[in-house]
Amino acid sequence: MIRIGVAGSGSGSNFQAILDAIEEDGLPVEVVCVISDHADAGILVKARRAGIPAHHVNPAPYRTKLDGEAERLAIRMFQEAGAECIVLAGFMLMIKSGLLRAFPNRVLNIHPSLLPAFPGLEAWKQAVDYGAKVSGCTVHFVDEGMDTGPIIVQKAVPVLPGDTPGDLHARILEQEHIAYPEALRWLAEGRLTLDGRRVQTPG
Ligand code: GAR
Repeated sequence: MIRIGVAGSGSGSNFQAILDAIEEDGLPVEVVCVISDHADAGILVKARRAGIPAHHVNPAPYRTKLDGEAERLAIRMFQEAGAECIVLAGFMLMIKSGLLRAFPNRVLNIHPSLLPAFPGLEAWKQAVDYGAKVSGCTVHFVDEGMDTGPIIVQKAVPVLPGDTPGDLHARILEQEHIAYPEALRWLAEGRLTLDGRRVQTPG
């Protein structure tokens, strides 16, 4: 069993998939705290509905990173809730060294492409615009770079002729909802080994 803190900026469908996996598949994870940089984010609504402490953290004066006072506040909230690991689920701010030092090798992210292709924003749109034939999602440990950390699991999906970015994103999200619980199960069961950039997994 591992206690996780979750950070997200959007609707929280990945967060919901984790809650469903706890409920329905016995995923040995407890969500102890959820934070969002958007006061009205769906992820906060979902957390409160599930009875999980949920907080808005205003990133000001920064707009693209969790730094300064907001970073200190987030770390304090996670630590006071007893989080052992931080799960970024659609969190759109860059993570800085303070959070990484507070949770060494224990910050995970999910990205909607097969990294290292298409890091950054709207990766599903980048894939369609580029003309990629295959895309997918990646669960990885977070390091100081943008979407550069050691890869835990990836799931591929086809990019079909005529796909809009939205079509592709929906197909990728289905796989995200499988990949994140899978990675978290391995982590919770102590079955992930980090060796430099390589992550050994049971899968
Ligand atoms: C997901 O597709 C996630 O991979 C992506 O945002 C979406 C959040 O959806 N994250 C990133 O692009 C991070 N750079 P959700 O709020 O429904 O889980």
